[in-house]
Amino acid sequence: MIGLNCKPLYIENAENQLYNPTLNIKTTMTYLETAAQFYSEVAQTPQVGLCCVQSTPLQLPGLKIPLSMQEMNYGCGTTVHPTELGKQPTVLYVGVGGGLEALQFAYFSRRPGAVIAVDPVAAMREAAARNLEMALTDNPWFESSFVEIREGDAFNLPVADGSVDIVAQNCLFNIFEPEDLTRALKEAYRVLKCGGRLQMSDPIATSPIPAHLQQDERLRAMCLSGALTYEEYTQRIIDAGFGQIEIRARRPYRLLDSQTYNLETHLLLESLDSVSFKVPIPEDGACIFTGKTAIYAGCEDFFDDKAGHILQRGIPATVCDKTAAKLATVKPKEVIITDSTWHYNGGGCC
Ligand SMILES: C[S@@+](CC[C@H](N)C(=O)[O-])C[C@H]1O[C@@H](n2cnc3c(N)ncnc32)[C@H](O)[C@@H]1O
Repeated sequence: MIGLNCKPLYIENAENQLYNPTLNIKTTMTYLETAAQFYSEVAQTPQVGLCCVQSTPLQLPGLKIPLSMQEMNYGCGTTVHPTELGKQPTVLYVGVGGGLEALQFAYFSRRPGAVIAVDPVAAMREAAARNLEMALTDNPWFESSFVEIREGDAFNLPVADGSVDIVAQNCLFNIFEPEDLTRALKEAYRVLKCGGRLQMSDPIATSPIPAHLQQDERLRAMCLSGALTYEEYTQRIIDAGFGQIEIRARRPYRLLDSQTYNLETHLLLESLDSVSFKVPIPEDGACIFTGKTAIYAGCEDFFDDKAGHILQRGIPATVCDKTAAKLATVKPKEVIITDSTWHYNGGGCC
């Protein structure tokens, strides 16, 4: 019950156990409660640079972000992709933080109720509401009705099935243990309209994080020890039903150095920005676009693989990783596959 609107049932003792003074019940906190408590603390005393990568928040004409909101930028990349927000989408934002990305989404949608921001931590909801109130002063285009803050959590989103165009979360799902991550992904899938998009930014690990760090609940809450590898992370998205994933950015995020974290070698965490589409999974598997292209270098004017891909000689065609692998096998000498750029903005074919 930590961090919710109601009066806490338990108080924490020195051994990180929860103690109910009325009922004399002692229980250990779950890792989700530890995370909620952590975010209650950093809502009340902001920690500048807690999760963020070294980049300034997206700057947009006429958008002024209050300083207190910038100081609570607890995201590790961005989920706001300006070129795809032209149709005033309804956005469900999970884990509101200081409200930065909720404001950025509102900038595009500009209508009452377009952004629904959910958080189970009362102090965080209150901080976001304060920051959004401040944003009213410097942003004449902004109205408080554009963002609605609701109590709720990632496993039980307070909206109907198939009701939103976008679900976004930044630096939250990596905190979840794998089975909880699957639950959260399925819940996002439930509330999205067909064709809707799950826009995420999360740390991923370049090699599996050892158990002693994974079990450290405080590090997990700080987005430092719950990250999965790229392969595990994308597979969980596909297992939740998403038929297409586009990788928008992949960059270094943090180094877990061997001395501080008791590791055999340093372990690099990266930050991954992705967009996953609620579209059917093709029979031969989901499409993941990482920025690869296929270039036909044979003697004909074009190459037709009879599976929907026509490659003109010398002209790069964007392909998903599955198709890239198939083409490389079918025509290893005549089709050149370029490396993943980890920066793909839509427009390819499967
Ligand atoms: C790392 S912060 C990210 C905040 C924000 N997305 C940003 O980019 O600044 C994680 C956020 O998720 C919230 N949170 C914690 N547990 C949650 C849960 N089970 N469901 C939804 N949100 C949760 C926290 O209160 C906090 O606001």
